[in-house]
Amino acid sequence: MFARIFRFSSPLFLHSFRNISRSSRSSQGKHILLSSAFHQPSTKQAVFFTASACLLVSGSAIKMKTHIKARCAEYPGSSVRRLPVPDNKVSWDVELPDYTPVEYTSEVVLKRPVWADVPKEELQSNPIKFNGLDGIINRRSHLGDYRIVDSLPRNPVGRTGLTGRGLLGRWGPNHAADPIVTKWKKDKNGQRVMKNGKPVLQFIAVQRRDNGQWAIPGGMVNAGEVVTITIRREFAEESMNSLEATPEEKKAIEAAVDELFAGGVEVYRGYVDDPRNTDNAWMETVAMNFHDKDGTSVSKFNLHAGDDAVGVKWIDLSSDLELFASHVDFLQTTAQKHDASW
Ligand code: BGC
Repeated sequence: MFARIFRFSSPLFLHSFRNISRSSRSSQGKHILLSSAFHQPSTKQAVFFTASACLLVSGSAIKMKTHIKARCAEYPGSSVRRLPVPDNKVSWDVELPDYTPVEYTSEVVLKRPVWADVPKEELQSNPIKFNGLDGIINRRSHLGDYRIVDSLPRNPVGRTGLTGRGLLGRWGPNHAADPIVTKWKKDKNGQRVMKNGKPVLQFIAVQRRDNGQWAIPGGMVNAGEVVTITIRREFAEESMNSLEATPEEKKAIEAAVDELFAGGVEVYRGYVDDPRNTDNAWMETVAMNFHDKDGTSVSKFNLHAGDDAVGVKWIDLSSDLELFASHVDFLQTTAQKHDASW
């Protein structure tokens, strides 16, 4: 998703790219969730959800608690309302005998696109190997083994007020990967901009078409794919429009991505407080930072939003950020690693 975000400022990338029909794209299981209005005949996951208060939790609020967005009252892309779960009842260790969560799995998921598992009713005849490698599908959680209760995986962080899979394709963990591309903010004289005595870091953010929120341009790990490949592919496809490039352009894009991503540092690996999470299906991600320390690598690109992004820009890292899912947390860690202003 989010192709056509950048173009190289080099002449090679300045001319218009050829259009490749979406149905001919090879990447699978990408996790763009669109409504039927946005639905396209591709292997991408689709659902549209509007921004709402529960999606816009500030960094400080996220720090205070976990499982905030995952308990968001109205489930994204639907009018389904979760059973409210108070903070002190999120943990499965706290008894809640009257817990009667709402069951919901979106129609898109029930239609069983390639990225989705079988419905609950078919699990007995098509058993899933949870907590392991199930064929080429990674059913392991970054948090360790999760419990299977009544044949279904149980969200390892706690109750969400909703069972089923909602918008998520997989029972249990749904794996994503997030490239955080950073550079130092410079003034017109090329000097680092300082705030509260520390240099300001910036990252490349995209505005998601599905919910209007600013986010790291991440994506879903395809079945059988290793995370580093996903990160590299997502960045090339979403940020450099490699999907619509000619073979020569694609080769140059890949070379640039290799160079930029050679020094990647893992910032986060684990559960994500995502509004799509349910008691039986949840998001996990690996976020990696690619830092253009002297401003010569990423500066080769012009930002250009397109495809599933409606905006793209460099954003200052700061505790005021309001971003999709747990992305603020990843950026706070990134700022700490670089001893940057936050
Ligand atoms: C997004 C990632 C995000 C993950 C978990 C995926 O759909 O592409 O950027 O980290 O969901 O919220």
